[in-house]
Amino acid sequence: MMTLRKHSFNRYGSCRVSALLLLWTLAVAGCGMFDGPPAHSVGHSHKHIGAEEGTHLRYQDPDRYTWQYPERVIKALKLESGMKVADLGAGTGYFTFRLAEAVGTSGKVFAIDIDAEMNASIDKQAVAKQMENVKTVLAVAHDPLIPEQVDLIFSVNAYHHLKDRAAYFKNAARYLKPGGRVAIIDFREGAFRHFTKLQTLLEEFKAAGFTLDQQHGFLPRQNFLVLTPAQSG
Ligand SMILES: C[S@@+](CC[C@H](N)C(=O)[O-])C[C@H]1O[C@@H](n2cnc3c(N)ncnc32)[C@H](O)[C@@H]1O
Repeated sequence: MMTLRKHSFNRYGSCRVSALLLLWTLAVAGCGMFDGPPAHSVGHSHKHIGAEEGTHLRYQDPDRYTWQYPERVIKALKLESGMKVADLGAGTGYFTFRLAEAVGTSGKVFAIDIDAEMNASIDKQAVAKQMENVKTVLAVAHDPLIPEQVDLIFSVNAYHHLKDRAAYFKNAARYLKPGGRVAIIDFREGAFRHFTKLQTLLEEFKAAGFTLDQQHGFLPRQNFLVLTPAQSG
């Protein structure tokens, strides 16, 4: 297994300087090639360039598969047909469509993002894939605005974008059905220049009134926690 140190030089897999990605790479100020503390304020989008395709390329980089283990993540979530899921900070839908397949046509996935361009990308893909169980939602920074209660709020690499996260999830708990869960995957310290320390995650969710249900250790770059509201039944 590669070390976290080595991983830190990759941005969503590779920052390979290929002819295809060269211009885009140059346009992206700090494409993850430099270590250091988060260089941005929370609540922002990673849309460094206007072109939707650029972001799509980055988030859907095939190299990501080698460390993101999407099938293993989906399996670990133990989703059932008919479930409703919110993909918080869905981006261009790396997980959205995998979640939608897992819950089937009787289920629903709300792709939640504050960036309308990300939602437009997902809408376009949903039409092309004929997946009617995916619905995009334009959220606001402090509230995911999920249209109905869900079985799972799932979020990958977006937690570090959120501000006042204890308050955010204290509020977001109202979007969970009784027995509903929150699953958070975010970069570990040292794995990427934007990250959330495990201790920070645990403390913030405790402050938000959640208890840790599961902690999966199989992702080489990210923490993967499953939490439930303390009063959940
Ligand atoms: C690094 S991307 C991750 C995208 C996707 N989850 C993935 O794994 O490919 C983070 C996403 O979170 C979104 N985001 C940032 N702040 C947000 C907020 N307060 N509410 C919802 N989405 C947010 C950004 O617009 C961006 O699309």
